Amino acid sequence: SGKRAFIAGVADDNGYGWAIAKALAAAGAEILVGTWVPALNIFETSLRRGKFDESRLLPNGSLMEIVKVYPLDAVYDTPEDVPEDVKANKRYAGSSNWTVKEVAESVKNDFGSIDILVHSLANGPEVTKPLLETSRKGYLAAISASSYSYVSLLKHFLPIMNPGGASISLTYIASERTIPGYGGGMSSAKAALESDTRVLAFEAGRKGKIRVNTISAGPLGSRAAKAIGFIEKMIDYSYANAPLQKELRADEVGNAAAFLVSPLASAVTGSVVYVDNGLNTMGLAL
Ligand code: NAI
Repeated sequence: SGKRAFIAGVADDNGYGWAIAKALAAAGAEILVGTWVPALNIFETSLRRGKFDESRLLPNGSLMEIVKVYPLDAVYDTPEDVPEDVKANKRYAGSSNWTVKEVAESVKNDFGSIDILVHSLANGPEVTKPLLETSRKGYLAAISASSYSYVSLLKHFLPIMNPGGASISLTYIASERTIPGYGGGMSSAKAALESDTRVLAFEAGRKGKIRVNTISAGPLGSRAAKAIGFIEKMIDYSYANAPLQKELRADEVGNAAAFLVSPLASAVTGSVVYVDNGLNTMGLAL
């Protein structure tokens, strides 16, 4: 409580980012979110019109307050990085200051500092293609949006993070076990994210006393997951084969995230923490 969190990757009330925001709000944190520029309009409109009111409900009966929504495109670090066609794009031209560096500056100007940084975003334009059919461009785009975006966010937010703060990201077991269908270099991007979690935990720990962990989450029918095309199959597989035979709810990931960024986890850093009903532990599904 009394902490301020910036959560990058919230554009509706279905994904892990929303669930993490809720768990942190329930624990008393002030919530700022970063929303992908092309999704900003519909997200803000839906918020304003009360479309999310039911899912804003917190255990104490109050509604989660999102103090500010920042437009963000985490594949661009500075305005100089933005290509002309993107600058001219109607959806982008309608907003400003949405590169990573600018968002960190805006948050600094608005609030001074944060305690918690959450990365809950990924994008792989060729995710439906097997790795052998993935182009260089698609592979690098997956890494840029899903892995380097985290390095960049932490790099730019670290100077305004209060010592003792914490950061988390979301990863998926396709980084370490083959999940046919999770293609386009997304498996590679998650492997990079997990390796970076260890290196960034060291660097941010020494530099700013900040802890860095990642949650390897089980399957959830989010907007991003539906784009992969076989999320229902993954959910059914998990239900059939995991030690805990139950649906994985987004709020279970939210609660684990709240633990990891809280002082209860003050000695946990550089870890990949599984929140997947235990599916990762199985060697043979019967
Ligand atoms: P989601 O669709 O709620 O979240 C992904 C968000 O990323 C969206 O809000 C999208 O607008 C945003 N985004 C995409 N490109 C962006 C960019 N360049 N800049 C800023 N934002 C951008 O879906 P979900 O599934 O909750 O994803 C959150 C995280 O959880 C991702 O890292 C995903 O890989 C991870 N994850 C998801 C699993 C699942 O089954 N849904 C399983 C394990 C991990």
